Formats: sequence, C-alpha cells, structure tokens
Amino acid sequence: MTDSDELDLDNIPSHVAVIMDGNGRWAQKRGLPRPLGHRQGVESVQAIVRAGGELGVKILTLYAFSTENWNRPAAEVQALMGLLKNFLQSELKTITENNVSLRCLGQRERLPDEVGNVLDDAIARTAENSGLILNLALSYGGRNEIVRAIRQIAEKCRQGVLAPEEIDDKLVSAHLDTAGQADPDLLIRTGGESRLSNFLLWQLSYAELYITETLWPDFRKKDFIAALAAFQKRQRRFGKISNQVG
Ligand code: IPE
Ligand code: IPE
Ligand code: MG
Repeated sequence: MTDSDELDLDNIPSHVAVIMDGNGRWAQKRGLPRPLGHRQGVESVQAIVRAGGELGVKILTLYAFSTENWNRPAAEVQALMGLLKNFLQSELKTITENNVSLRCLGQRERLPDEVGNVLDDAIARTAENSGLILNLALSYGGRNEIVRAIRQIAEKCRQGVLAPEEIDDKLVSAHLDTAGQADPDLLIRTGGESRLSNFLLWQLSYAELYITETLWPDFRKKDFIAALAAFQKRQRRFGKISNQVG
C-alpha cells in the first residue's frame, strides 16, 4: 500500500519513533563510502518530516546518533557530525515555515560545540511553533536517559523535596528527555534488524513495532504510509482481552 487515501485519518499514531538504520549498507551496496549513505539518508529525513506533518502525526522522534555510535571510526563520527550541522543549518528555514518545533533527546553536552550551538539555535527559534514536534535523538541512549532521570529523582529525595513513595510511572516519565510527551504508538526500524539498540527503553513499553528491510536512504513517504497502514491493522490490547478493547 502506498496511497494515503487508504489510511484512516482518525487513527494516525500520535507519536512515531524511527530507528533510521541501513545507511552504511545502502552505500556499500553501491561501492560508495559509508558517509554517502548518511548523506542520502538526510533526504529521507526531509521526506518523512514532511509526510509526518501532512498526515497528522503529532510527534516524530528520529534516532540519529546513539551513545554507542561514538565508538565508530573517528572519520565516520566526524562525517555524521558535519552532516548534522549542515542539516540543522539548511533545514531551519523549512522547519520554521512548516511550523515544526525541534527538540533534542540525549547528551547535548557531548556534541561538538559547533553542532551544539546550531542545535540550540534551531531549538530556540522553533520553540514557539505549534505544529509537529520533531525530537532528534543525538548521542542518545535509553539507559543513559534513565540513569540521568534516576539521579535527578534521587537528588530530590536527598534534598527532602520528594519522598520515595511519591515515585511512580508518571514521575519517572516526567524526568526523561521526553517529559510532557505521550509515549510512541509506533516504532519503525529500517534496515531489517530486530532490536531496539538502546532506543527509548522506557517509552516504547507498549509501542507497536514495525520492522522493514528497506534501508533508510530508500525509505520515503510511500514506505511511511505502509508503516502507518500496518499500524492501523493492529489491535492494541494493553494487557486486556480482545472483547474489552473492541
Ligand atoms: C544508521 O545507519 C545511521 C547511524 C547509526 C548513525 P548505519 O550507519 O548504522 O548503517 P548500517 O547499519 O551500517 O547499514
Ligand atoms: C541504531 O543503529 C542507531 C541509530 C540508527 C542512530 P545502529 O546501526 O547503531 O545499531 P546496531 O549497532 O546495529 O544495533
Ligand atoms: Mg546500523
């Protein structure tokens, strides 16, 4: 299915998270250096951000660089950081015009200054936008995010402003980088691997998983629509039985 006419517009997932995988393989298959795969992947990002807004997705979270990705060869890390900076600079106008609000998940302080500064600028300039929320997960790891949340919560307990009995799901969620946002309804992973790779470990607890062999640089609007269509065929039971959820 590739046609948005076949989607039920009343059942669009509010929050879609994407593990954008397969850039290296896309390049290698063509005998190209891996960074060219990442460069091609930027076009998929542009296409999916636009499609998400058009189809009524409220929050789109893109896994762009993991805490583990720092362990890649230095040249590849450098190429990725360069692309990120260029992307943020060149897309700012389009993002602003489309009323997108940019946010960042992850270890902002580990990013090179030149990237961090452009990122801060883009976040500040789009903060008042009321359309699609675009979370970029950069130097992001689910475990690291949870550890940072636990530290903040523990500190509040130590200061006596919070009692351990007050710690519940909501409070933990409120200390994550996605504070205030609903959890993802749908997780898309391109590139065919069946794993989470340390992505949104807390927030994905009841997300529907959609894995496609399509490599990220080939993933475009029609593929996004196919993922949403697959989501619409699922029955989300949240632990109940079929009859209860209709
Ligand atoms: C995803 O593509 C992009 C990042 C992880 C930054 P990969 O670079 O992991 O591509 P493959 O998995 O090697 O094909
Ligand atoms: C996951 O892809 C991270 C991003 C897409 C940013 P990886 O390519 O790093 O994941 P693994 O190493 O195959 O699990
Ligand atoms: Mg990969």
